[in-house]
Amino acid sequence: MTDKRFHLGWFMNFTPDEWRTPFGNGGTPWDGKFYVEMAQTLERACFDYIMIEDKLMVPQAFGGSTELSLRNAMMVPKHDPAPLAVAMGMATSRLGVVATMSTLAYPPFLLARLCSTIDSLTGGRFGWNIVTSAEDLAAQNFGIDKLPPRDLRYAMAEEYMDVVNKLFASWDKDAVVLDHAAGVYADHTKVRPIDHVGKFYKVRGPLNTVPSPQHRPVYVQAGGSPRGRDFAARHADSIISVASGVDSMKAFRDDIRARAAAAGRDPDDVKVLFCVTPMLGETAQDARDRQDRMVNEPYFITDILASISAITEIDFARFDLDEPLPERLVTNGEQGSLDKFQEWGSDKTLRQLVVGGAGGLVSSVELIGTPDQVADQMAAAMAHVGGDGFLITTPTLRVSRRYLVESADGLVPALQRRGLTRTAYAHTTLRENLLDF
Ligand SMILES: Cc1cc2nc3c(=O)[nH]c(=O)nc-3n(C[C@H](O)[C@H](O)[C@H](O)COP(=O)(O)O)c2cc1C
Repeated sequence: MTDKRFHLGWFMNFTPDEWRTPFGNGGTPWDGKFYVEMAQTLERACFDYIMIEDKLMVPQAFGGSTELSLRNAMMVPKHDPAPLAVAMGMATSRLGVVATMSTLAYPPFLLARLCSTIDSLTGGRFGWNIVTSAEDLAAQNFGIDKLPPRDLRYAMAEEYMDVVNKLFASWDKDAVVLDHAAGVYADHTKVRPIDHVGKFYKVRGPLNTVPSPQHRPVYVQAGGSPRGRDFAARHADSIISVASGVDSMKAFRDDIRARAAAAGRDPDDVKVLFCVTPMLGETAQDARDRQDRMVNEPYFITDILASISAITEIDFARFDLDEPLPERLVTNGEQGSLDKFQEWGSDKTLRQLVVGGAGGLVSSVELIGTPDQVADQMAAAMAHVGGDGFLITTPTLRVSRRYLVESADGLVPALQRRGLTRTAYAHTTLRENLLDF
């Protein structure tokens, strides 16, 4: 019998929790505890990993101002994911913790050292979401006026991966011998400089951390363009994506698997997880009513438009909500997210683009109903796509405890009863759990 289980990740925005809805708790104080509890909740439901998203700016594309982002707490404030990943890892024992870090922001040596340290602190459960950054505003925080074009960003990222892989390999796994009798901590013949001199980076090495349990972190990536998909298929252990329906999910996964095979990898080593935003209810009608109420909240449309503006640096405040977009939009930023959003050729008005389908930017397939109904919808989608799992999140990227618990303690048990997701972790490291099925 083939294993029909699939993997579950959680996509987490490190912005304030839901603070406006009746079941929001009014906004927790900013001390990170809400997110640590979130990790514990997800571990109870045996998720593979929590992925902490990140951006490196205060957005101001929407309306040409920071006002809406700050007023609505949309993509801001956003704190550093690395210390949070440590706090989450220390409060759990099996859940994978993935932090987003940009190749634009970190010199490769610091990045490799940080990843190695967190992987040791978490006992081999750390993952790095590799991003190149996609906004001029972010670049300007690092002395760069304009973000390099996408192809150059990926060319730099390729060399960056070469450097960090060499750094992780600069200590053999068995370099630490701890031989008390001979008085030897580490065997210096098993630790070598890398002497990397490339087009963009020059790094001597070796790394100055001991090999961590996974030796290198799990690599997560979300490239959407052909160049990005090649990069992801070459390097990533898990790829996260937003698609438009089950056929596009299947096409994306098939394409990634073909690219991974062409790069000499076993496609089964690359787990593709699709973003979804389940809306659950006591009955199908209840779930549908909740969805309708959510998309009709006065701030829903502006929140979505502000977030698509932030990641594309296109001002969506300048378009008429009740007209189709006047032209096909292009960006040097997140083009894949933009294409998914603009559904070019559909003739939908901007308002319909925002509230239509499953609502929001991050839903690959509509999931609405009771926990049992949604579990069946997820099973059907995975059967069509072929694997490998879902990355659950919320349409507005803001989460309440209610939404989290409904997913972890309502939906996941329904999935487990069907034998679709794990009921216990088989391994201690993130990579082993990902490769388990
Ligand atoms: C599910 C998902 C999560 C992403 N998370 C981040 C993130 O946390 N930070 C970031 O800068 N970019 C993030 N991105 C953007 C990607 O890294 C990438 O820039 C985008 O998918 C466009 O791909 P492309 O550059 O190949 O066109 C995310 C994309 C997706 C689909």
